[in-house]
Amino acid sequence: MTEDLINNKDIYFPSYSGLNDNLFSLLNKTSQIICDWFSNADKFGPFPIDENFTCTMPENKGSNTDDLFSEIELLISKSFNPVHPGSLAHLDPPPLILSILGDLVAASLNNNLLAYELSPTITTLEESICKWFSAKIGFSKCSGGIAASGGTLSNLNALIAARHNAGLNSDPDAVFLVSEDAHSSFIKCNKIMGLDENNLIIVETDKHGCMDLNDLKKNIDKCEKEKKKIFAIVATLGTTIMGAIDPIKTISEICKEKAIWLHIDGSIGGIYSISNITIEGLDYVNCADSITVNPQKILGITKTSSLLLVSNIDTLKNTFATGLPYVASNNNFSDRGELGIQGSRPAEVIKLWLGLKFLGISGVNDILNSALDRKAFFERNLCKNKFVIYSGPLHIISFLPKGMEINESYSWSEETRAYLIKKNFMLSRPKYKNKYFLRAVFGNYNTSTTHIKELLRILN
Ligand SMILES: Cc1ncc(COP(=O)(O)O)c(C=O)c1O
Repeated sequence: MTEDLINNKDIYFPSYSGLNDNLFSLLNKTSQIICDWFSNADKFGPFPIDENFTCTMPENKGSNTDDLFSEIELLISKSFNPVHPGSLAHLDPPPLILSILGDLVAASLNNNLLAYELSPTITTLEESICKWFSAKIGFSKCSGGIAASGGTLSNLNALIAARHNAGLNSDPDAVFLVSEDAHSSFIKCNKIMGLDENNLIIVETDKHGCMDLNDLKKNIDKCEKEKKKIFAIVATLGTTIMGAIDPIKTISEICKEKAIWLHIDGSIGGIYSISNITIEGLDYVNCADSITVNPQKILGITKTSSLLLVSNIDTLKNTFATGLPYVASNNNFSDRGELGIQGSRPAEVIKLWLGLKFLGISGVNDILNSALDRKAFFERNLCKNKFVIYSGPLHIISFLPKGMEINESYSWSEETRAYLIKKNFMLSRPKYKNKYFLRAVFGNYNTSTTHIKELLRILN
């Protein structure tokens, strides 16, 4: 090699032998910009609306880093800021600091979870963390799991495995059941799986937003009469609008009796099952065949971080393995790309592992309990004479002034949301039971009682 080539300057890629001082100074500068953004959250509010925002696109000649830093600063100054204490709209809390570092490590490693030979340590780490979660929720030794980019994909991995393991892949009449309050990702899963509305059976919910068991039984009987085979029943552990938990114990008994796969969508509430918090239903999650857990939600593990845990890891292998003819496999380790839909995947499990190692179960308890306390304080003090309130046992609450019809609810929720944004509170505006609500999600650790009192003052 010429001297020139050996004396690599880490302009495009990290140097394999030099000091990497260019990379080092860029990382320092980036850290400074990010920390300033966090520290100045109040300047911009949670949702700095700029509908004229545009980015400049790459040109023939590359930009210099000073120009790029100005663009980064502009980009983030106009971004949704989950660190702001008024950020209460969605299930997207501030990023856990240790998981920000995990993302940096994962990006730097640039390993690929597709195959053991592309990510030997991370393959072991992902397998271990899935087993750790499985043990925590009470699955047996043959359990395991796979990470995926979000709850939608974890749910899809589960339903594909359920259908495959029921031997119903080519049955056009095979169905699965979810409650009417289940997440819209199941409609998407149904479409992706080549099914139509006849294959997705919607079960009614009761007044608490939980799956109605009588309606579930009625639907199962109807399927049996019509000779439709059920490949899965989905119980939701934390519904999106009000955080309700379906009656997991009874649903699991029905599934066991009928030999139907029970999938739990624990995208919101699944994480509570590794804490010491007691909430009805949590102690039966180990009766499921599969469960989705999304540490990217309340724990603040940076996106994306979702796991599908299964009671028997062979169910995933049987469903997804194709063989990877271009990879040198090692009999002692599974290639993780053989356990789910995704092929190439980043080493995002590092940020989950680092985050959990740093928090410990006591830190997890602290984050979850503080969210429940904030929600309870808000619910206790929201005017009961004025509002219809929907909220289950978790950290989510939806509300609407009493007696409003759809049109009135549309304008009240739109106007109130816009007013709240001016006051630096961002709430979401879901449509539920044919009316528009405001929803607050109390997963933001930065929101104090003072902030909640101010929000209540405006609403009440
Ligand atoms: C209950 C539930 N399930 C699934 C999902 C989908 O998760 P993701 O957005 O990570 O795909 C969500 C998202 O909020 C959810 O609330």
